[in-house]
Amino acid sequence: MKPPVLITKRIYPEAIEYLKQHAEVDYAASDDGLTAEELLARVHGKQAVVSQLTDKFSAGVIDQLDGVRVIANVAVGFDNIDVPAATRRKILVTNTPDVLTDTTADFAFTLLMAAARRVVEGHHFVHSGQWTKWRIDLLVGQDIHHRTLGIFGMGRIGQAVARRGRGFDMRILYHDAVRAPEAVERELGAEFVSAERLLRESDFVSLHVPLLPHTRHMMSTEQFHLMKPTAILVNTSRGPVVDEAALAEALEERVIAGAGIDVFENEPQVHPTLLKLENVVLAPHIASASVDTRRKMSMMAAENAVAVIEGKKPANLLNAEVWTAN
Ligand code: DGY
Repeated sequence: MKPPVLITKRIYPEAIEYLKQHAEVDYAASDDGLTAEELLARVHGKQAVVSQLTDKFSAGVIDQLDGVRVIANVAVGFDNIDVPAATRRKILVTNTPDVLTDTTADFAFTLLMAAARRVVEGHHFVHSGQWTKWRIDLLVGQDIHHRTLGIFGMGRIGQAVARRGRGFDMRILYHDAVRAPEAVERELGAEFVSAERLLRESDFVSLHVPLLPHTRHMMSTEQFHLMKPTAILVNTSRGPVVDEAALAEALEERVIAGAGIDVFENEPQVHPTLLKLENVVLAPHIASASVDTRRKMSMMAAENAVAVIEGKKPANLLNAEVWTAN
């Protein structure tokens, strides 16, 4: 009898096949996800759970996960899982880093460029038949090249965004809780500055921090007022890092010029004002959504789960102290 594994939501088929070779698979093959009650009923007797960012593993849920040895999240972010609670219960937690770094950075830059050069407005303008003549100032936007890019969070994705900025001859500023190694700063030509200086001097502010108590609403009214009125905010990290109501107000009142937003405070809901504004480009949490990357993420989570049920240390372990203690 192979060890039982729960997959909470639809993932790419090669990951299912791989899991089936190593485990007895209970596959919730839908995009709806499981409610907390359904999850608890279905997880009963399982050794591993392959989860997604919409599955909420609160301390209360984790306390009821009898026999589960690993939660293998199909995402690099893991704010949907109370990792300290899992650690207390000696449950391993894994994520899917690296494979999505460049894909996510590509998309952050896509949003930056789309917002700066008003691509979506241009599309609607042409599509709706409003384009009747060429005009000297038709849909003029912001230059990207030789401008200043401010990056909050100089981890893997932040660095990949900086590299793209370098390709556009941008000046790179960054802020993080921990300063990057000198070699990284040199390679990226990135200058470590205070949060305030980053906000005051950047033409583009791109967020690449994890969602933690101290990053929740780190961008709110006060921060928007420090930014240039021509500046553009890009968020591909987590929705609650930005105070969405404050962003809507800042965009509506032109405190900042625009935004490119992929993540929201209460997904899939979006603040109603953002839906009405033209100076924001909105996307449905798809920064890592290339075919190759989503396949790799599915496979990586499956491999993490299989490693644990076979007694091996998974490659992407978030709470290594649980492994060491075993
Ligand atoms: C992640 O991996 O954390 C993204 O938000 C979803 O791909």
